[in-house]
Amino acid sequence: MNSKFKRTLVTAALPYANGPVHIGHLAGCYLPADIYVRYLRSIGHDVKFVCGSDEHGVPITIKAKKEHTTPQAVVDKYHTIMGNSFKDFGISFDVYSRTSSKIHHQTASDFFKTLYDKNGFTEEVTEQYYDETAKQFLADRYIVGTCPKCANPNAYGDQCEKCGSTLNATDLIDPKSTLSGSKPVLKQTKNWFLPLDKLQPKIKAYIEKHSDWKTNVYGQCKSWLDSGDGLQPRAMTRDLDWGVPVPLKDAEGKVLYVWFDAPIGYISATKELLPDTWEDYWKKDDSRLIHFIGKDNIVFHCIIFPAMLMEHGEFILPDNVPANEFLNLEGDKISTSRNWAVWLHEYLNDFKNMQDVLRYTLCSNAPETKDNDFTWKDFQTKNNSELVAIFGNFINRTLVLTHKFYEGKVPEAKTYNKEDLIVLEELAAAPGKVAKAIEQFKFREAISEWMNVARIGNKYLAETEPWKLIKTDEQRVKTIMNVALQISCNLAILAEPFLPFTSKKLFELLNIKPLRWAAASQTSNMAHGHTINKDELLFSKVEDEHIQIQLDRLKKSKEDNLVNAGPIEFKTETTFDDFSKMDIRTATIIAAEAVPKTDKLLKLTIDTGKDVRTVVSGIAIYFKPEDIIGHKVCLLVNLAPRKIKGIESQGMILMAENAKGELSFVSPEKNDIENGSIVK
Ligand code: 2FM
Ligand code: ZN
Repeated sequence: MNSKFKRTLVTAALPYANGPVHIGHLAGCYLPADIYVRYLRSIGHDVKFVCGSDEHGVPITIKAKKEHTTPQAVVDKYHTIMGNSFKDFGISFDVYSRTSSKIHHQTASDFFKTLYDKNGFTEEVTEQYYDETAKQFLADRYIVGTCPKCANPNAYGDQCEKCGSTLNATDLIDPKSTLSGSKPVLKQTKNWFLPLDKLQPKIKAYIEKHSDWKTNVYGQCKSWLDSGDGLQPRAMTRDLDWGVPVPLKDAEGKVLYVWFDAPIGYISATKELLPDTWEDYWKKDDSRLIHFIGKDNIVFHCIIFPAMLMEHGEFILPDNVPANEFLNLEGDKISTSRNWAVWLHEYLNDFKNMQDVLRYTLCSNAPETKDNDFTWKDFQTKNNSELVAIFGNFINRTLVLTHKFYEGKVPEAKTYNKEDLIVLEELAAAPGKVAKAIEQFKFREAISEWMNVARIGNKYLAETEPWKLIKTDEQRVKTIMNVALQISCNLAILAEPFLPFTSKKLFELLNIKPLRWAAASQTSNMAHGHTINKDELLFSKVEDEHIQIQLDRLKKSKEDNLVNAGPIEFKTETTFDDFSKMDIRTATIIAAEAVPKTDKLLKLTIDTGKDVRTVVSGIAIYFKPEDIIGHKVCLLVNLAPRKIKGIESQGMILMAENAKGELSFVSPEKNDIENGSIVK
């Protein structure tokens, strides 16, 4: 730990209070932040961990509209749900505050006023987009269009989530109101801008001082600063009615931009936690500020918030901003609206008391340097082949044998041989390795170093075979079991940041009070003669059927999405002439059989009234041959013949296909209409 700093304030991005928490949130910033903080607490560092709900901004008002309720009702509901999920998963915030609180409104207002009084803003009347149907200005997520930088067609009015660029709504190509879908008009309005263009040299110097930041973070910042136009002035106020009111006389109907007020939420949360000493964490040079975020928040934490802090003048600047990339789910982007997510509260219903399995999986697979994928199969493997088979197995064998040989009493290690000494040396080196990785924000590496300790333990037991040796060398077995118990204890210490529930349980099984990090380099934490508690399994296998339930749930989401997606887009315009080139006739299926070696194809014999012909059709999944004989259909008879699986197909049956891909015949209303009648 860098001794320059006496205390550390760790923040985790304030999540929008517009939905429950999912695994993407957890893996993105809350889990790494929690691991980091728990580690700092364990080494005895003065650390505070603050977070809270981000309750302003368009995401909230959009949700309120969707749920036919008020923004306040939305944030009240989700603030509680989110807070509970974090608690359930052991995310150990010292305070979980909210930006609709009085203390936050006051803090954000004061901050704005200070900048205003220092001439930190430029006041500008500009043309902003306005929705004439909804009768309101369109900012941020109220407007979508094509990103001018990367051509993403779904960029928001303030940010493109695809390329990470910050945008002004007027930069969007082909803008559309998300309220009414209409094309907005431009209307003049006054707002207060942060002149990022003028601040660019200061911000650049600040960023360049931090070339040690994670490459994904530093690289993004540099590319914004070095790109052609550099930084642009940015409006810090909005013409909206939900948010912190702009504390100026001539600003009625205007609120602070959500990205102005939200990071100030870190300050108000600290004030709420420490009414008397909060300034120590924000204003002293020997304090360190660290923001854990997801990659879509980089610009706001590395450029805009530091610029605000610099202009204010009283605060320290973020020392590091370890941002993670995104976590996908089963190969697809996590999406609340498409219900493509693993919700924390649902996970706990299905996997009771298994928080640590999810924490382990998300940490070992964290999207630290690139986007990563969560799959249920991998979750099962991480549990069964690592937590159960390596760590759980080692602990269980150690505890069971201690009870079997010594009635639960720690035996004495009188002499160590070379094998023991090597293991004890590796054990003593482990905390340093795990700590180094955590301090560098390499949590995947850290958790794998931790699991390596269990691997060492397993190998040691497998090689020394105390269960066999007990018959011939009782003294030697005492040493072996003593070493195994020391390893178990140190595993409990080192597990705490990653798997806090398991660590606690293991300390209980060992019947000792939780120990701090420094003790993990000792190899004598378990005193001989001490009695451990009755053994219990720490992890149990996740069976295939448990995984299948989750996969089925996701499959259902996908199907529901297809249905809810509404009618498939119409094709582009065609002409009557083109349509009339198609000769469509009524016809009857007179024979049908499956095409050998295919799942989808049926070979149909069809009476067109004029001839009898063969048509190969891809409908076998939905229709059995025997069920469709005698069926009246519409047939495109002048389609050029083509060979399918060696059979010449002479036409195409008209089918209706819904969004799920289910098929139905398009048949004439009257069944007795003659074959060969023209369909037009
Ligand atoms: O992306 C989000 O969910 C934002 N609500 C994060 C805000 S972080 C901070 F600035 F408060
Ligand atoms: Zn873009």
